[in-house]
Amino acid sequence: MNVLVLGSGGREHTFAWKIAKSPLCADLYVAPGNSGTASIATNLDISVTDFEGIKSAVLSHNIEMLVVGPEDPLVNGVHDFFLNDDALKHVAVIGPQKAAATLEGSKEFAKEFLFRHNIPTAAYQSFTANDLEKGFSFLETLSPPYVLKADGLAAGKGVLIIDDLDEAKSELKNMLVDSKFGAASSKVVIEEFLDGIELSCFVLTDGIHYKLLPTAKDYKRIGEGDTGLNTGGMGAISPVPFADEVLLNKIEERIVKPTIEGLKKDKTPYKGFIFIGLIVVNNEPLVIEYNVRMGDPETEAVLPRINTDLMEIFIAIKNQNLNTINLEVNPKTATTVVLVSGGYPEAYEKGKTISGFENVQEAIVFHAGAQHSNDEVVTSGGRVMAITALGLDHKEALNKAYNEISKIKFEGMNFRKDLGFDL
Ligand code: AMP
Ligand code: GLY
Repeated sequence: MNVLVLGSGGREHTFAWKIAKSPLCADLYVAPGNSGTASIATNLDISVTDFEGIKSAVLSHNIEMLVVGPEDPLVNGVHDFFLNDDALKHVAVIGPQKAAATLEGSKEFAKEFLFRHNIPTAAYQSFTANDLEKGFSFLETLSPPYVLKADGLAAGKGVLIIDDLDEAKSELKNMLVDSKFGAASSKVVIEEFLDGIELSCFVLTDGIHYKLLPTAKDYKRIGEGDTGLNTGGMGAISPVPFADEVLLNKIEERIVKPTIEGLKKDKTPYKGFIFIGLIVVNNEPLVIEYNVRMGDPETEAVLPRINTDLMEIFIAIKNQNLNTINLEVNPKTATTVVLVSGGYPEAYEKGKTISGFENVQEAIVFHAGAQHSNDEVVTSGGRVMAITALGLDHKEALNKAYNEISKIKFEGMNFRKDLGFDL
């Protein structure tokens, strides 16, 4: 069948790379894609939220499966748009409908879901501009640091963790009254701070059955030793070495199963990936967030470890018989190092020529903010490429990745040289 992947990052290049290996995929399209997807698929110049444009492309190219990479189209209802259109409703959409996508689209909705289904998470209250004073009073009952979360989508920037009470109050006012994150912070969730170690768990579901995918850990800060500004993600390691069987079992029993059951009880259909952000406190996992998609760069570390045909898995999701799939996972460790533009995550220049990536042999090069310009590949975003290597452990895999990265060059290129430092 013909397949369209929505998105343009390293995550989408990885999806396309894996789907292109499948005999079940005939023609592969990516919208809008990047220089990496252009080499294995046909890029279509359509924005991920241009539903009418997507519809025309699906009809003119006889596309029968839509794989949605980022959250925006899901939260805006791309799956519902397909189901409600007679010409599109036969198309398999990988990604939840709007109702369930609200788990990522609204932090308050996610907290209510977690509490309703008795899934472990931090205590919280939510506030709007009308009850700012109540928000101040609630902050006074908590001990620092204070966790303030914009309710809506804020491109990964909507969470503030603040040590000082007065500063927390002033930021709460900035968010609620002065629209610090626009409409996304017209409501704010204030949450108890959880002191522990973070990891992410990835689940695929057809709405009835589920499969656990390998765990991964990402490195969000720009600077070595987890310092400096937050980024979209500077690298990832899969599996997470400290996620032993006991912990994984707790995650599955206390978090994954009640999540799938909760979606069923709430009558919110779900076909796609669930990315569960966790903090482990005293060996007990608690949920800090749901995402209704795969992570980036976690996808670049997780998918290369899955030996099973991804198209077979997606077709099983469409047919709601995911239970028939035998998920084969490579026991090796995958590490992904993200190459970023100089200055990122603040202002950076684009259009820098990228050279040497064709000479990489012992790693996989996933393109992200990279585009063709004439005969060259040039930078077009903050996160430019993600380099994934496999090894017997994360050290071996990282050594390979760093060795291969020494072949790649572009002006201002930056990357973290200390991934795995905390493991
Ligand atoms: P979120 O977007 O909800 O995942 O939050 C972004 C980051 O803030 C997470 O990756 C955590 O590092 C941190 N964080 C979120 N919630 C909490 C919490 N309740 N306690 C401690 N850290 C948190
Ligand atoms: N790497 C974190 C995310 O994709 O949200």
